[in-house]
Amino acid sequence: MKYGYFDDAKREYVIETPFTPLPWINYLGSNEFFGLISNTGGGYNFYRDAMLRRLTRYRYNNVPRDTGGRLFYIKDGDEIWSPTYFPAKKELDSYKCRHGNGYTVFESSKNGIKAELTCFVPIKDNCEINRLIISNSSDSKKEISITSAIEFCLWNAADDGTNFQRNFNIGEVEIEDGVIYHKTEYRERRNHYSFYAVNQKTTGFDTDLDTFLGKFKDYENPQTVIDGKSGNSKAHGWSPIASHRLEYSLSPGEKAEIIFILGYIEVPKSEKWDGPAANGIINKKPAKELINRYNTLKAISDELDALKKHWDELLSKFEVNSGDEKLDRMVNIWNQYQCMITFNMSRSASYYESGQGRGMGFRDSCQDLLGFVHMVPERARERILDIAAIQFENGGAWHQYQPLTKRGNANVGSGFNDDPLWLIGCTFAYVAETGDYSIMDEPVQFENKEGSEKPLFDHLRASFNYTLNNLGPHKLPLIGRADWNDCLNLNCFSEEPGESFQTCANIESDAESIFIAGMFVFYGRQYAQLCQKRGLIDEAEAATAAVNEMSDTILKHGWDGDWFLRAYDSNGDKVGSSSCTDGKIFIEPQGMCVMAEVGVDTGEAKKALEATKKYLTFEYGTCLVAPAYKEYHLHLGEISSYPPGYKENGSVFCHNNPWVSIAETVVGNADEAFEIFRTTCPAYIEDISDIHRTEPYVYSQTIAGQEAPTAGEAKNSWLTGTAAWTFVNVSQYLLGIKPELDGLCIKPCLPERFNNVKIKRIYRGATYNITFVRSDEKGLWVNGIKLDSNIVPAAPSGSVISVECRF
Ligand code: GLC
Ligand code: GLC
Repeated sequence: MKYGYFDDAKREYVIETPFTPLPWINYLGSNEFFGLISNTGGGYNFYRDAMLRRLTRYRYNNVPRDTGGRLFYIKDGDEIWSPTYFPAKKELDSYKCRHGNGYTVFESSKNGIKAELTCFVPIKDNCEINRLIISNSSDSKKEISITSAIEFCLWNAADDGTNFQRNFNIGEVEIEDGVIYHKTEYRERRNHYSFYAVNQKTTGFDTDLDTFLGKFKDYENPQTVIDGKSGNSKAHGWSPIASHRLEYSLSPGEKAEIIFILGYIEVPKSEKWDGPAANGIINKKPAKELINRYNTLKAISDELDALKKHWDELLSKFEVNSGDEKLDRMVNIWNQYQCMITFNMSRSASYYESGQGRGMGFRDSCQDLLGFVHMVPERARERILDIAAIQFENGGAWHQYQPLTKRGNANVGSGFNDDPLWLIGCTFAYVAETGDYSIMDEPVQFENKEGSEKPLFDHLRASFNYTLNNLGPHKLPLIGRADWNDCLNLNCFSEEPGESFQTCANIESDAESIFIAGMFVFYGRQYAQLCQKRGLIDEAEAATAAVNEMSDTILKHGWDGDWFLRAYDSNGDKVGSSSCTDGKIFIEPQGMCVMAEVGVDTGEAKKALEATKKYLTFEYGTCLVAPAYKEYHLHLGEISSYPPGYKENGSVFCHNNPWVSIAETVVGNADEAFEIFRTTCPAYIEDISDIHRTEPYVYSQTIAGQEAPTAGEAKNSWLTGTAAWTFVNVSQYLLGIKPELDGLCIKPCLPERFNNVKIKRIYRGATYNITFVRSDEKGLWVNGIKLDSNIVPAAPSGSVISVECRF
């Protein structure tokens, strides 16, 4: 069952009912000011940091779900309704929610009144704009009132939800010319405030939640809205809100066009006050300037155009016309869009990430980069340098860092032994995309320590050597606290409720990871290429030798007979072997080792993929492990804490499905590769939205697996490395346009039915118009001339190249 449809021309998903299985959300904002917005107007705003600069309050896991956000009430006679359905929850005559790139529009109607609400964050300013257009489509005059409301968060979202003995005393507001200013804590250590403005004459306001709602009322039916009269209340502590009342008398065909602005303002410390500080009147000049920039409909439509241009530009680097509209819409719009959202948000704020949890992950950030480096290479460069600076001199790394401070997070620590290798992966991707070798000469600190700067290339070398310096008894890499699978904790034996499975006391053991071994082969080859380009020929050869040796070791000690083993545990016992009771086969080493071409010539690669299909793949995707663990295994850790079929314990963990799809392209199985891609791809499973439940336009982290009672149900949408890896898979392996150091490698691997595909790829400033046609005579023709390799050499910026790929 579907709850809407894709409008590709507008790059929108149009939701046709407020009753989606879960809130279906979108993101507003591109730089520093952000908003989350659901299909009933829910969500919240923040400036830069979702925990420390939260502007509006949102109660996670509330009843009913998703109850905070942009609230609007239209009162038409005795009827009170909301254009976003929530909060008034009155049945609407019509309803549509259009989630587009960086904006969301609601179109609804009731009893001859039409409402159109457009929500977006302009590119250059720290505010969210809500343009509300109300029109009278009936044939009689209407007297209506409109009430808006938002609830302020007292800045620090964590403290806001816990420290009530203080917080009920500190809320402060000012009201001037219909603008409501939220200035809690401004008198002492803050030099920022927020405001909620409207560009039309108001007939009332409220800033005190209790006055606005009335006794025992909730947002569904505030007493002041029912009474048709605002309380004109001023908040002193408790819960400051901002609400405006506007009244209109609309003749048939007449419209009211209203602009609401929620803004964030920072004022230099010396200019905080308007008059003496003791008067407590804040300096509103910058707020007024911002409000003035957006007080006309023309200004709003210009900003919407600018936003569209911004996304046109970002999405223009890779465009495909394959004849399969679902594939095209994912590649051209939604998958790239999601990659940019993971760039903006990392794992901080979604409907599953509270904005108060993790900072930025070392491995997560490196992998996210693979999906956005072609869109924002300059910002990718900066991110690589930030990440590298939390690396240790021995190549290890802090596992997480805080975006505001860019410092490693000591609570989580280090010792996740896959981390260092991802740094090679993202740097290689950056250099292959841009041809900018200078990044490797860039001085970068180790552990953010002054004076420890070394060229980025030395960091890559440290990463590569870290694996080699940490080998176990089988000469396979030691796993440490965990590798990519955060929940396979072979050295952290947790027996205390509440403690972190990853960071509890770490025993010293020789537990080894075949996954890291596969990664070492995959990224070690990229490292050798970078050495070569720097003229370090001996080093390149030594690296290649080490990689080949690791590949042999995998086949010798990491092969179980029909598939790759997952690990050796702290006792030296096998994990992910046919000899195990549960957890016989894991997806990660099958994907990663075959991606790295281990066992391709000797047959193990194909066998591993056959076993993957047989034991792990079912109708909703390829599961992480089978059989899932049924009881808690102290020596395996968090993985066995999840009920069978969920999360790391045997769900379809979407992030690693593309590895298997890529692996299928490595062995030349185009049909299998595409099938794996298709099975978890949102656009292809839109029809089972009732089972899948999360948004059909973006990937989720997990889909309940074959052993789960709710198989097929997804959770944790939006902020997942799945976005980047599926984009890498579809663009570089299925469509086969892969940036290499010397140019664009073109090697599609697509099912027979794709016989006429056109791709536009902007690469290092040149435009490549690429056509795939089926032919017996295979090869690449560049501007009419046949090439004798798969790599189209990088062309000068500004040039236009036409490539025909006969395949
Ligand atoms: C989560 C983490 C990621 C990890 C994955 C598998 O997505 O953010 O770092 O690799 O889970 O455990
Ligand atoms: C939990 C999750 C895992 C995530 C980790 C991050 O272990 O299951 O997916 O990577 O938390 O700390």
